[in-house]
Amino acid sequence: MNAVVDVIQTSRDRYLEELNALLAIPSVSALPEHAGDMRRCADALAGHLRRIGLQNVRVVETPGHPIVHGDWLGAPGAPTVLVYGHYDVQPVDPIDQWTSPPFEATIRDGQLFARGAADDKGQLFIHLKAIEAHISQTGALPVNVKVLLEGEEEVGSPNLDPFIRGNRDLLACDVVVISDTPMLERGVPSICYGLRGLNYFQIDLRGTKGDLHSGQYGGAVENPANMLAHIIAQLRDKSGNIKNPGFYDDVLPLTDEERMEIRRLPFDEAAYRRELGAPRLFGEAGFSTFERVWARPTFEVNGLMGGFTGEGSKTVIPATAMAKVSMRLVPNQDPDKIAGLFEAFVRKVTPKTVELRLTRMHGGRPWKTELDNPYVQAAARAFEIGFGKRPVYTREGGSIPIVMTFQQELGAPTVLFGIGVPDENAHAPDEKLDLGNFFGGILSSAYLLQEIAQIGRA
Ligand code: BES
Ligand code: MN
Ligand code: MN
Repeated sequence: MNAVVDVIQTSRDRYLEELNALLAIPSVSALPEHAGDMRRCADALAGHLRRIGLQNVRVVETPGHPIVHGDWLGAPGAPTVLVYGHYDVQPVDPIDQWTSPPFEATIRDGQLFARGAADDKGQLFIHLKAIEAHISQTGALPVNVKVLLEGEEEVGSPNLDPFIRGNRDLLACDVVVISDTPMLERGVPSICYGLRGLNYFQIDLRGTKGDLHSGQYGGAVENPANMLAHIIAQLRDKSGNIKNPGFYDDVLPLTDEERMEIRRLPFDEAAYRRELGAPRLFGEAGFSTFERVWARPTFEVNGLMGGFTGEGSKTVIPATAMAKVSMRLVPNQDPDKIAGLFEAFVRKVTPKTVELRLTRMHGGRPWKTELDNPYVQAAARAFEIGFGKRPVYTREGGSIPIVMTFQQELGAPTVLFGIGVPDENAHAPDEKLDLGNFFGGILSSAYLLQEIAQIGRA
């Protein structure tokens, strides 16, 4: 390992230059005008996989954005590790709130600022560099490695699911490793053993065929913006409890033991509140902040639109109103079942005075794994060597729906080996990657391959 560690320590500048080149490609999966950039990013990654020594590298076409795949299978009898990451990023708006341009990576105060720096280009990159370090120094990897990179994670992975189902042999592995989550705190390596699921809906209401004078017609027809607010108000009470009947039926309660473990984690509530700029924290009574975010479901309005929102005033009854809403789900809630309950409830509470259109966008199943598998223990050892600190075990409130597909289709456990930080501003302006975590992450990933080789095939 000495030569591998040395090359990692002496290649930092090059790693940064290479990552910066990747971050310069505006691979925004949600926006059609970036389709060319998505392809450019996939091609750049494929070139990169070839240069670090992977074989059978392919850019796989899909009806959406391409999938990039490559492998190195020169360690017969050793375990096979599938590294998954996503090269797509979220849109950059509001662009005027970025301190430096989102696609020109800039270092300030030990942080690399760019869209995708943390989510997920910077994180997936640690594994590519660890693979490169092993192959360049020893001519081989201690385990078999498959790399799978998608360009549609941020839009619900519509094409990766079928790709996995159709390519079980190509992707067969003993463990899936993903770096796409934050650490509990900067410099506190964390192994995440649970993620929330998701259901996303758009609600459209139409009252009339066009906007109306609110004096001339107010009182004679329903106002869809009022009605939308009314519908939304019935979905959640002011303490955060979801009023959709049946919603909580399958929620797996936290065990006493898990609650005790969560209480032991370092958490400065006042600092957390201040960092967010919230006047008060808010959430379900009887649960701590980590419990609320990690293990309890939520209903959120993501966006709301309707009527006149310009400067000044306009007396108008808008013809339409629209909301984007989503629910974070927890084990053992089933997104399809919850979606059915949600649709039924919204239809029931919507009066005949408006036309309702409900569109289900994407969904994802919640995930929680056991900590007693040898790969988790290997990951813990690798983090401990790489960061000089024992990792903590966390859950997260975000979603990586494909993890459940890996489990079901490949029968492989996932280890979440994230090196983000809680204040990384993912999906927001000034997204950043902590460079200490980046370099520590490369080192940890190099050790991870080694540690997995040592346990052999479980
Ligand atoms: N990397 C995140 C997932 C994440 C965020 C996990 C924070 C843990 C903590 C991922 O890129 C993401 O944003 N996922 C989406 C999924 C959705 C688009 C299906 C999410 O959670 O909103
Ligand atoms: Mn991500
Ligand atoms: Mn994301």
